[in-house]
Amino acid sequence: MLNVTEQSLAMATQLLLDGQVVAFPTETVYGLGAWAFSKSGVARIYEAKGRPSDNPLIVHIAPGADLHSLVSSVPPAASALMQRFWPGPLTLIMPKGPAISPRITGGLDTVAIRMPAHPAAIRLLEVSGLPLVAPSANTSGKPSPTTARHVWEDLQGRIPLILDGGPCGVGLESTVLDLTESRPVILRPGAITQAMLEAVIGPVEVDPAVRRNALLADHVKPKAPGMKYRHYAPKGKLIITDATPEQMRAWLTPAAPQERVGVVATRQYLDKLQPDERQVTAICLGDQDNTEELAAHLFGALRKADQQGLTLIYGQALPAEGLGEALMNRFIKASSQQIWINRRK
Ligand code: TXA
Ligand code: MG
Repeated sequence: MLNVTEQSLAMATQLLLDGQVVAFPTETVYGLGAWAFSKSGVARIYEAKGRPSDNPLIVHIAPGADLHSLVSSVPPAASALMQRFWPGPLTLIMPKGPAISPRITGGLDTVAIRMPAHPAAIRLLEVSGLPLVAPSANTSGKPSPTTARHVWEDLQGRIPLILDGGPCGVGLESTVLDLTESRPVILRPGAITQAMLEAVIGPVEVDPAVRRNALLADHVKPKAPGMKYRHYAPKGKLIITDATPEQMRAWLTPAAPQERVGVVATRQYLDKLQPDERQVTAICLGDQDNTEELAAHLFGALRKADQQGLTLIYGQALPAEGLGEALMNRFIKASSQQIWINRRK
């Protein structure tokens, strides 16, 4: 694990050219990068993560990189979106060019492209001069890593280098937008919201699988293959609920003796809940009025629940608007149950 310096970037470049993988920070989450045109690099990504091979990878490019060598055409809406949101947390699905291997796309004839905004990611892309495929640098099924330490916990001994650029600012993976259908469709919500996209290109749809919001039933086939897997899951049972602190208090005691109970919630919620510290672990996401802060802390909170050995975790349901939609999408995907007791019919 090294800080980002000219030396570590040179080392990373050599590893990537040799068909190795390197973990690096982006503004969303840490990525596990390989040279997009290295067969062994791409194979190593799937191997290190334990990732199903039908789950395609995002190609990351530097500002000024030649997009046309990767895609067969640039959909009209793409130009305006790239202009407005790149570099930044928006991944665009476009028709793939002949240079892109089906091993990257899981056999699809489309390819996902993103230009990350993190200075270290941009430096790595620029110094190496390589397009990099990079999934989140977690083992498959675990919460995405938002610090170099998280990557270390998951992949130590399995990859040669982690570039440490501090905690990720956004903390949730990029928005994935499909531009290959007649209408643009959000396949994965992220920090670039539906409203932000619509302000630039007009009506944008959301894949129904996203809004189904619970674990997907087998017959629901999301267009982003990655969205069908249970993700981000802590080891303990996570229950998302809209219970008020007063209602939740009744659930926290008495717990079965072998149970270790925790609550993941906003500071304001935890202040009202006042969980008995001897029995219940409180994990704070941040200020309820600061959705950016809550989003940035979510994956770290889920990892903390594991570190504390929690067997039962209650998660506070948060408003699913704006960035909150992406936040709740991940929170619910991590959960095994939801309990709604205050919803109006
Ligand atoms: O923020 C991010 O996007 C991070 C950082 C590292 O850049 N990367 C990331 O990659 O989240 P990954 O592999 O964990 O998620 C990629 C998602 C998956 O859900 C995958 O199925 C979808 O994008 N995807 C990739 N290529 C696709 C394609 N051609 N068509 C539809 N979905 C695609
Ligand atoms: Mg991932």
